[in-house]
Amino acid sequence: MKLKITKAVFPVAGMGSRFLPATKATAKEMLPVVDKPLIQYAVEEAVAAGITDMVFITGRNKRAIEDHFDKAYELEATLEAQGKNELLRLVQSVVPKHVNCIYIRQAEPLGLGHAVLCAKPVIQDEPFAVILADDLIDGDTPIVKQMVDVFAKHQSSILGVQDVPRAHTRQYGIVSSTNLEKDIEHVHGIVEKPQPDVAPSTLAVVGRYILTPRIFHHLENIRPGAGGEIQLTDGIAELLKEEQLLAYRFNGIRYDCGSKLGYLQAQVAFGLKHEELRQDFAAYLKTVS
Ligand code: UTP
Repeated sequence: MKLKITKAVFPVAGMGSRFLPATKATAKEMLPVVDKPLIQYAVEEAVAAGITDMVFITGRNKRAIEDHFDKAYELEATLEAQGKNELLRLVQSVVPKHVNCIYIRQAEPLGLGHAVLCAKPVIQDEPFAVILADDLIDGDTPIVKQMVDVFAKHQSSILGVQDVPRAHTRQYGIVSSTNLEKDIEHVHGIVEKPQPDVAPSTLAVVGRYILTPRIFHHLENIRPGAGGEIQLTDGIAELLKEEQLLAYRFNGIRYDCGSKLGYLQAQVAFGLKHEELRQDFAAYLKTVS
């Protein structure tokens, strides 16, 4: 029987220290690009891939995220009373009715691998997606949908990857691989944040994963790695010793919204695509460049 992906894990419990003070009282994933928080782009991507259960791994600033996906009774009543029906529909459509939002607390930010492990009680024995909302990826077909389609065929764990300049390997998990078919690599090894001179390739893992539940066994057993954190990369390195692991070169443009430059680039790109804004914004940009 072919397995399907119905659950996505959104780790949103990081410190977001590169965005302080903006992230002092709210999660990095609530930062907006134009008019929508990063986490909503990520949830919309999951919904477009047919995923119905959204599992958020929250940290000290969890409230804003829970509130964002919850019903906003007072706001909705006010908009209704004011006859602002379009805005009311916008607020009500943040998550479709068939989607479940589940929140799990990561008591301490012990690393991305630990955050994913926190989802085990909900995921149990199913393959699942992991989406890092601070990697905003713009594709004609949403990236998770592309990966779910690859999963439907290969039924194994898949990492979303892209080529990066060699000088940047120290910011990513880097894979060694051989080509399997168009856009798909068979992964033999993965290392977290290698220096450019020792990096096995320039193929970097970015914030999209499909993982089999066997990953939990490995995350439970690995020791803290780079930066004293339980690294998802280290768990994946163990997983590939016993299961097929694929890397998928997704089709789309990625904005690293965990960095200030990437975040600003996303604002420009999405501003230039925004229905209401694009003409005025393009005209404005011409005056400053
Ligand atoms: P980052 O490596 O970007 O770390 O986490 P960060 O803490 O969010 O940001 P900086 O580096 O301090 O600026 C990658 C993803 O993993 C989540 C983050 O929320 C982000 O989506 N994460 C990280 C957790 O949920 N828990 C952790 O313990 C660590």
